[in-house]
Amino acid sequence: MKLPPRVQLIDVGPRDGLQNEKQPVPAAVKIELVQRLQAAGLREIEVTSYVSPKWVPQMADNHEVMAGIHRQGGVRYSVLTPNLKGYEAAVADRPDEIVVFGAASEAFSQKNINCSIAESIERFVPVVAAARAAGIRVRGAMSCTVGCPYEGDIAPERVGYLAGLMKGIGVQRVDVADTIGVGTPRKVQAALEATLAHFGLDEVSGHFHDTYGQALSNTLAALELGIWNFQSSVAGLGGCPYAKGATGNVATEDVVYLLNGMGIDTGIDLDALVDAGAYISEQLGRPTGSRVGRALLARRAG
Ligand code: HMG
Ligand code: MG
Repeated sequence: MKLPPRVQLIDVGPRDGLQNEKQPVPAAVKIELVQRLQAAGLREIEVTSYVSPKWVPQMADNHEVMAGIHRQGGVRYSVLTPNLKGYEAAVADRPDEIVVFGAASEAFSQKNINCSIAESIERFVPVVAAARAAGIRVRGAMSCTVGCPYEGDIAPERVGYLAGLMKGIGVQRVDVADTIGVGTPRKVQAALEATLAHFGLDEVSGHFHDTYGQALSNTLAALELGIWNFQSSVAGLGGCPYAKGATGNVATEDVVYLLNGMGIDTGIDLDALVDAGAYISEQLGRPTGSRVGRALLARRAG
């Protein structure tokens, strides 16, 4: 078993992390969070999404947030665009990468983006073509690759089917998402392997929610396959509004601690990251969801 020497983390906290917050989070706080993440060494940040404000009110300030961040050289800023309307709104804000998002489960596709898997691919075709023509990178998020809140277990074949469709329309890399955090290592590996039949090792990332406390184990299982791109949320923020009961992504602090301990480089300063997690948790008025964050804050205090 040869583990990757380096891991690239995409912090999705400003988007996945905050999209489900019931209380309004001011754009200035989201901007400050992005600043703190990049100062901590994050080189990829998922900033916001261009979706219907009726569906996801928290992301209605997308233009303000994108306009307010002070971009740092070498950092890639990505945003979610579900359709051409979203893409056209996003492109004015100069994202480095756009994300189309589909699901391996039909029921989740309907609940989340109001169309079937086949229809979603049709919607993505012009978005992907426009982005590629404009020199903007294209990532595809694949939800419910292990389990679905409406359909239960999802077979790896269905993940492979979606990955093949994404590849076919020109998506450059994909996220294998365990949206509701029900996966365990071998199931997650099966979903990743089904994806690796269509995309290279450098083009597949793991996106694990931690609802059942399995996300770090699943991260290690993905590392065993050579996967070296992962998404996580500072302070373990998050959840999808259309995946009831699902909690946040695995905390970035926890992943960095795991990788530091294994001698795998991330380029991230854990202390600065813990500060970023403490900042956003304080703004939200609750303790950090990161175990490592809590432990390191307690050690500092004591
Ligand atoms: P729809 O109702 O099917 O779309 O929604 P429509 O084209 O029929 O338009 C209906 C209305 O929405 C119209 O407005 C459009 O203008 C507007 P109205 O005339 O009623 O006032 N509209 C838009 N407004 C702003 N931006 C747009 C846009 N498109 C249409 N881009 C749509 C389809 C996808 C827009 C809707 O279902 C939606 O916004 N869904 C939200 C999905 C979402 O953001 N989910 C959370 C992110 S995914 C996630 O968290 C999972 C992930 O983390 C991976 C994982 O963990 O699984 C990525
Ligand atoms: Mg997610």
